[in-house]
Amino acid sequence: MGVRLSAHQNRKRVSSKLQPSSKNSSLDQSRRGSLSNARKDRSRPPSTSSQSSDGVILNGRKFHNETGSVYWFPNDDEEMDRLVGQHFALKTLFNGNIPEEALQDDTIPFEDGAKILDLGCGPGTWIMDVATEYPSSEFIGVDMCDIFPSNIRPANVRFQVGNILDGLAFEDNTFDMVNFRMFILAFKKEEWEPVLKEIKRVLKPGGLILSKEAGMLEVGNDFVKWAGKTFKERMIERGQEPYIADEMKKYMELEGFEVVHCVKKHSFPGRPDHLNREFLWDIRSIFKSGQPFLGEHLQVPNEEYPQFLDQLVANCQEQPEPIWSMVSTMGRKPF
Ligand SMILES: C[S@@+](CC[C@H](N)C(=O)[O-])C[C@H]1O[C@@H](n2cnc3c(N)ncnc32)[C@H](O)[C@@H]1O
Repeated sequence: MGVRLSAHQNRKRVSSKLQPSSKNSSLDQSRRGSLSNARKDRSRPPSTSSQSSDGVILNGRKFHNETGSVYWFPNDDEEMDRLVGQHFALKTLFNGNIPEEALQDDTIPFEDGAKILDLGCGPGTWIMDVATEYPSSEFIGVDMCDIFPSNIRPANVRFQVGNILDGLAFEDNTFDMVNFRMFILAFKKEEWEPVLKEIKRVLKPGGLILSKEAGMLEVGNDFVKWAGKTFKERMIERGQEPYIADEMKKYMELEGFEVVHCVKKHSFPGRPDHLNREFLWDIRSIFKSGQPFLGEHLQVPNEEYPQFLDQLVANCQEQPEPIWSMVSTMGRKPF
């Protein structure tokens, strides 16, 4: 009930410039009631959920059907586009793909045969970008979904399907570095610890684990904070850790890593420069990708969801300006 009330109140506070003024506003609560009644009266729309050979279709988006994984984002082309855009935004925000502390570390032979694993590599943008910079090193990308580029890839990259929750199919002490990025929606709270243990197992002594995670959307106007709060509540209901970005240092230390880098950067998605526009687009795409899990909790019916996304973007450009933070954390397995 609390969510229902706050959603309604927050919508009412949206500036009139952005909020449709007519009583028939598509997000108007009373009309929503009549829309749902109308839906009941009409012949049923096609089901929003169906199976494909390698996944589940929800609201026209394709999701994994991996047993035991709580990951709740799609694995279709549209999501891959989001991840590619997000990669380049993160690269710019953090001034590169790999922190200086790692590049200056003589024990990691980037120029001369390092072995690097990208876990949950998605479409492989990070790994292919880094592999092109270091052609003498060997790169392996692993993801539970086969969403890898099939033809075009650097010669020093290969991909493997694997679910880290089942363990990694590599010997102990194999890798110089494991990149492990944007898993915030992939694990339950209690899964982070065993996953870090498994990564430590496959790292060589002195090897580095590199994590980047996003924070919650908690700064902005009431509409933005309501959307961010609903997202966070969905994560908690799913047993997940919304603050993993800030907690990662502690998790690594508990697992016996020596944390050698921990940097928090802020994006300001309301600002008009190119980088912040990328993050704004990412926020919109994140709420779009999460629609099957968020729509009901935001109380936005499917047919009104595009308008909700437009309103989210518009409200991100209002004052107080939203701040969305990312944390890069890197730990070393002891020698
Ligand atoms: C948000 S995407 C990030 C992709 C990539 N790391 C990046 O930063 O662009 C999360 C990825 O983790 C993968 N993933 C989620 N749970 C996983 C698991 N248990 N084992 C392996 N991959 C997983 C998903 O399929 C998805 O491609």
